[in-house]
Amino acid sequence: MKKQFNKNILVTGGAGFIGSHVLRLFVNKYPDYQIINLDKLTYAGNLENLKDIENKENYHFIKGDICNQDLLNEIFENHHINGVIHLAAESHVDRSIEDPSAFVETNVFGTISLLNTAKKYWPGNTKDNLFYHISTDEVYGALGKTDLFTEKTAYDPKSPYSASKASSDHFVRAYHNTYELPTVISNCSNNYGPNQFPEKLIPLIINNIRQKKLLPVYGKGENVRDWLYVEDHAKAIDLVFHKGKIGETYNIGGSNEWKNIDLVKLICRIMDKKLKRQSDESKQLITFVSDRPGHDLRYAIDASKIINELGWEPGLQFKKGIDKTINWYLNNQQWLDNVVNKSYLKYYDKMYGSR
Ligand code: NAD
Ligand code: TYD
Repeated sequence: MKKQFNKNILVTGGAGFIGSHVLRLFVNKYPDYQIINLDKLTYAGNLENLKDIENKENYHFIKGDICNQDLLNEIFENHHINGVIHLAAESHVDRSIEDPSAFVETNVFGTISLLNTAKKYWPGNTKDNLFYHISTDEVYGALGKTDLFTEKTAYDPKSPYSASKASSDHFVRAYHNTYELPTVISNCSNNYGPNQFPEKLIPLIINNIRQKKLLPVYGKGENVRDWLYVEDHAKAIDLVFHKGKIGETYNIGGSNEWKNIDLVKLICRIMDKKLKRQSDESKQLITFVSDRPGHDLRYAIDASKIINELGWEPGLQFKKGIDKTINWYLNNQQWLDNVVNKSYLKYYDKMYGSR
């Protein structure tokens, strides 16, 4: 007999960086939930990230696009979906500057397709269903030297990526306001940790140090980001999903600001020790390159709402988190080589085709 689950949750983008950590947490912590992972497996999606849970009874993977309305209907219908945790997105600012349209397609149209499906299958039912949209602090724009983003900060996105995420946030709120769709949103600061694609700053620097390649620092390296360990974000997502108030927004952040240049130098120092290189050897690889156009100066989050109202706390101190992260990449060099070589994409094409 088919097992009855207490909840049927659709996680989108679960083969990506944050999604894979969210899936691992939910699949292991909630054996009574059925978790469906819908992922298009773009260059950023990697099933290797989910090897340890792929055979669990309560986990099911579907390769597909969140823009495919027929597929979404089929999934909601067949799996009686009553919760959505929506992470699927194009997520890299530099790529959004190269080609904004892919960001509009997935981040805006894809989100609207999902909202329409939830609206269709959950008519008037706000009690047992939840559409949880995962967003970024970048929707708030750039900060000066001292202030913080709160949930009340006005939206002021400045890159094509953040503009597409801001647009999707607005649609989620509009569906709540107009159709009473039960929604909740969280906006998080920069994540770091295992399984992040090495186009983002921290894994890119680790990968380049490992290969003794140049370390590109944009502009003067003065830009500031607030870094949060990915598992702490996953725990916050668990809390918001279960305890968050419908219609609300929660900011999530590490209270851990680093100037890019200081962060790059820290990673150099740690890796020189671990790789038994001369002290200051990797620092010589730092190269200041042309700045990112429209580069936001500083992001920093005031997370007091989720801390005070839902009891969340960022668990891992940065020094421990960065050490753990560097160890993970050094112990998983094959993972890095595979994603950089894109050999896994050929494998997906063979296994799943395109949908
Ligand atoms: P990622 O790029 O690592 O993963 C994105 C995943 O979405 C991939 O598995 C990809 O295959 C999938 N995907 C892309 N387009 C799709 C489509 N059309 N249909 C189905 N699947 C698709 O991203 P990430 O860093 O894990 O970010 C996840 C979410 O969290 C995003 O919504 C992002 O905006 C948000 N976020 C990220 C950060 C961060 O620091 N990485 C911070 C705050 C918020
Ligand atoms: P990134 O990891 O792309 O995240 P985001 O732009 O979403 O904050 O970049 C983090 C910071 O590092 C950002 O200020 C841009 C900078 N950066 C570099 O200096 N060099 C690089 O090669 C990359 C990828 C980013």
